[in-house]
Amino acid sequence: MNNLIIKNTAQIVTCSGFKGKCGKEMSNLHVIENGTVIVTEGIISHVLHSGQEMPVNEQDYNIIDATGKALLPGFVDPHTHFVFGGYREEEFSWRMRGESYMEIMNRGGGIVNTTRATREATEEELMEVGSQRLDAMMQLGITTIEGKSGYGLEKDTELKQLCVMRRLNEIHPMDIIPTFMGAHAIPAEWKGKEDQFIDFNIREMFPLVAKEKLAEAVDIFCEKGVFTIEQSRRYLTAARKHGFLLKIHADEIVQLGGAELAAELHCLSADHLLQASDEGIRAMAKTGVVATLLPLTAFSLREEYAHGRKMIDEGCMVALATDLNPGSSFTASVPLLFALACIYMKFSPEEAVTAFTINSAAAINRADRIGSIDVGKQGDLVLLQFPSYKFLPYHVGMNIVETVIKRGRVVVKN
Ligand code: NIG
Ligand code: FE
Repeated sequence: MNNLIIKNTAQIVTCSGFKGKCGKEMSNLHVIENGTVIVTEGIISHVLHSGQEMPVNEQDYNIIDATGKALLPGFVDPHTHFVFGGYREEEFSWRMRGESYMEIMNRGGGIVNTTRATREATEEELMEVGSQRLDAMMQLGITTIEGKSGYGLEKDTELKQLCVMRRLNEIHPMDIIPTFMGAHAIPAEWKGKEDQFIDFNIREMFPLVAKEKLAEAVDIFCEKGVFTIEQSRRYLTAARKHGFLLKIHADEIVQLGGAELAAELHCLSADHLLQASDEGIRAMAKTGVVATLLPLTAFSLREEYAHGRKMIDEGCMVALATDLNPGSSFTASVPLLFALACIYMKFSPEEAVTAFTINSAAAINRADRIGSIDVGKQGDLVLLQFPSYKFLPYHVGMNIVETVIKRGRVVVKN
């Protein structure tokens, strides 16, 4: 049964709204004290204040008594690379000895290392590890994720990754929104022929992925030594003609002008942005590009954090994501994500919650369906062990999620 009543909540952190929030708006979580939420056939049907009469017959519903607990929308993770073969623990230890991510990439490690292992892995092997990663994310309160291809860098393996995501979406309670990232790195066979590799993606991959409806968005790693601004512009402009939404890994290591390009092309989101310029930040605020920040990556790479405080103050719509991948961020730790966003990027707890619910839903074009507790939205909810959302960054590194509800059904009980 996916009819559920959650009553006596210490607080309902509604994050109310049907689109992402910019700047100051991110501070208002629209909290209801002692309320009740009713999910009917998987959809939120009522959000009641304390003392309001019960509008449905309780016999038709499962009931959770949430005394002393805060209820939030399920978390939305809008940037992951969770389908991959192999691991890169050796590279991590080299980085701890002082080598940089780009140095390792330039001598044949990094993304192309994972590409090798992902090409070798069977679809069933990727299903297995993918499903385990989804289980782990759900334990932490994540109910929807975006997942990128980009560890194939040739036709069959890109399609294999996208098919794995499609199949996992069907069999796993997690909702998975797929992104095609054919331009994630330059594979050995295309070295020195970067423009032709972009052409290959435009001519062969975009029509195929569009025809099979295997992805909603496309993404590119726009970075010094990977793909240039001009190549990114060409790739993304062509993708739009196939109806894809646009995403870009921008200004992560070097300030290239990726944020400005995202604004110019009205991308759905620009991600990373550690080095984004002030003009780039203002341009994103003006054009409504979601600035998706990945503090777990900055932490893992020992880089300076993105200027999230400045982005919010400039009126950007800021989202948070884990970036789960085998290289730069082998973690989906939601507790650490909240702690880093607040302690190092100077978000308030309210801003961090907005950034990982309604704004992260906006970063995958889903703010009309998920990311808040509003009547008509999917019944994806998270119940905390504690009475306030403020415990999320405060209880550093600890999973305080007690119950996870997906479309009105309990899928995790910790
Ligand atoms: O978002 N920066 C590029 N892509 C990923 C890293 C992928 C990898 O290292 O395997 C990222 O950090
Ligand atoms: Fe990424």
